[in-house]
Amino acid sequence: MDAVQTQSRPVDTPNAAFTPRVLSGIQPTNHLQLGNYLGAVKRFVEMQDSGIQTLYCIVDMHAITVWQNPEDLTRATRELAAGYLAAGLDPKRSILFNQARVPEHAQLAWVLNCVARMGWMRRMTQFKEKAGKNQEEASVGLFTYPVLMAADILVYHATKVPVGEDQKQHLELTRDIAIKFNNDYGVDFFPVTEPVIEGVATRVMSLRDGTKKMSKSDPSDMSRINLTDGADEIAKKIRKAKTDPEPLPETLDGLVDRPEARNLVNIYAALAETGAAEVMAEFAGKPFAEFKPQLADLAVAKLAPLSSEMARLMQDPAEIDRILTEGSERARTIAQPIVKRTYEIVGILT
Ligand code: AMP
Ligand code: TRP
Repeated sequence: MDAVQTQSRPVDTPNAAFTPRVLSGIQPTNHLQLGNYLGAVKRFVEMQDSGIQTLYCIVDMHAITVWQNPEDLTRATRELAAGYLAAGLDPKRSILFNQARVPEHAQLAWVLNCVARMGWMRRMTQFKEKAGKNQEEASVGLFTYPVLMAADILVYHATKVPVGEDQKQHLELTRDIAIKFNNDYGVDFFPVTEPVIEGVATRVMSLRDGTKKMSKSDPSDMSRINLTDGADEIAKKIRKAKTDPEPLPETLDGLVDRPEARNLVNIYAALAETGAAEVMAEFAGKPFAEFKPQLADLAVAKLAPLSSEMARLMQDPAEIDRILTEGSERARTIAQPIVKRTYEIVGILT
């Protein structure tokens, strides 16, 4: 193996040779929450509309790295597909599918498991967070999760990956794996993927604690807005969101040490499709008693139609299944030749 590794050569701008292509994914666990929507799905829709080829998957194989009740997994997969569609992803313009239906992800993941190094994997902070104190009890799948994610991306030669900020380290690993593969085998085969982590909502925080990320798995339902919440629930959660007693500051700088206030301003900006500075210009010096009802009205106006559209789509699971099956067939036509070529590069008979 060392002999192969010494063949390495610099990879300068390997992406120049690749057609721009976007891939991202979300795990079908619990309900989609506002952070997923603003940090990921809304960006997926923008990229779909930018004219680049876009693939968006539902990463069911990632979901089972921690225990999932089988019926819940099936329901959450369909519900996430409904969320994608309700948010504006169009199966004609984007390839929408569930990961397990494209077995090439798992095939490439195995090869990439043999490229990634133990030392790289041990540095992954999300594994440490999710495994908690008892790492011995974590599944092997949870440890190698980021390699499967690299395979999701590289199996399409995707050049851009829109995600929230928490995925930054995983995308750096994806780049390291691509570079090492290219160096080891003396090829420019895999692109060095660009993360797309942009906008005011790359890290939406919990409504109960401005220092914690909003998450689908937080035990408190009041900490997040689910995309399945109706108008009353959305308004109630915003009304009860934690804040400090001061009115909003006069300038953006005044938000620095006020995580809860900053989070609500960012949520407002992302929903209104403007910047935090513009929101501050409107609400500087105003008390939360004035700001919160306006944020609640905006959130209801933007999100309640999504939840009702999701509920409507969920009434026809056969149509959702049809869309995902068709998407996976289209995805396979891209992935199959890439896995075949990977095997050839590695020297595996195909
Ligand atoms: P997950 O729910 O972990 O599968 O996350 C799916 C996508 O949503 C990823 O791109 C995450 O980075 C993004 N995401 C999850 N939570 C948040 C959050 N609180 N703020 C912004 N983006 C988020
Ligand atoms: N790990 C991502 C998350 O938890 C989900 C994911 C899996 C993903 N595969 C991906 C995101 C490929 C982008 C690209 O949010």
